[in-house]
Amino acid sequence: MVAVMKIDGKAYRTIWLARDGWSVEIIDQTRLPHRLVIARLSRLEEAAHAIAAMLVRGAPLIGVTAAYGLALAMREDASDTSLARARATLLATRPTAVNLAWALEDVGSLLRRLAPEERAAAAYRRAAAIADDDVAINQAIGRHGAGLIEAAHARTGRARPVQVLTHCNAGWLATVDWGTALAPIYMAHDAGVPVHVWVDETRPRNQGAALTAYELGKHGVPHTVIVDNAGGHLMQQGLVDLCIVGTDRTTANGDVCNKIGTYLKALAAHDNAVPFYVALPSSTIDWSLDSGRRVPIEQRDGQEVTHVSGLAEDGSVVRVQVTPEGSKAANFAFDVTPARLVSGLVTERGIAEASRPGLLALYPEQAARAAGG
Ligand code: MRU
Repeated sequence: MVAVMKIDGKAYRTIWLARDGWSVEIIDQTRLPHRLVIARLSRLEEAAHAIAAMLVRGAPLIGVTAAYGLALAMREDASDTSLARARATLLATRPTAVNLAWALEDVGSLLRRLAPEERAAAAYRRAAAIADDDVAINQAIGRHGAGLIEAAHARTGRARPVQVLTHCNAGWLATVDWGTALAPIYMAHDAGVPVHVWVDETRPRNQGAALTAYELGKHGVPHTVIVDNAGGHLMQQGLVDLCIVGTDRTTANGDVCNKIGTYLKALAAHDNAVPFYVALPSSTIDWSLDSGRRVPIEQRDGQEVTHVSGLAEDGSVVRVQVTPEGSKAANFAFDVTPARLVSGLVTERGIAEASRPGLLALYPEQAARAAGG
């Protein structure tokens, strides 16, 4: 399948097989937006490091990278012991995005049924299929979500651009292509609906300022970066028509776990009657949990809070400390937005009410697995 989203006229996916036919190439997202650097993953340990150190990030892309990580491991040693070790190594990288466990179970259960000599080729085939599925799923999410933006435009009397607020990066860089929360924006924009995006900077790692702004800019979508605390004020002023964000894990009752700060945006949206939508592929739904309170919340190194990196005047990328020496920092990476604050879940099958019945109406085959019934 061909890549869609472009950087300076060249179409990229976020992950692909290298020319040698077995190693895996990724866009190193720790280097964006100031440098476009392609990194190569040749071993299981490199795939695990890419996820843990966030060279790749975003729930769907974490899942695809883990699938390729299993393929790299099987290429070196396809024994049962190696498979179990690879699964455990990859699973330990990041705890919150359920796509990681989902992809490892998908590929792992397939491989366990095969003879060792068949495993490497099967793992590569399945990883490629998961990547292709991700693109098709995101296109479907985009089509369903674009309708929300078109409807918002109609509500304004088509008098001005639709104002969308998003948090973190749930664009094509967080997936294989298109993105989840940003796919509807790209599709509405491409269809001629005027859209302007308020981009939360998303401290501490600044995925909004660095990645979402980069993507939107490369696609020509008008956008403005704001500090994380500005959203509530903008909503009070009537400057936001709708919010769309992604999610790392949505539980069977419709609670949404996403990047830290999402909950505060949802509270502000609720207080100001601004619709708050969450876009997700079904691989992000954790049918086994009946409440967002049970989602493991990743805590990362405090240095992501105490330090920031950026472009210096001489063109070099530098890292500087913003806190006084000796101050402790806490770095909770995700929070949970209760289902009652979510206007709808935009999935590949359509828009669901954020509730167990709402999700099961779109995914009736999950009724047996869904917790809380
Ligand atoms: O810590 P990150 O950058 O991996 O967090 C990403 C997010 O919070 C995204 O909103 C989420 O993964 C959805 S990506 C389509």
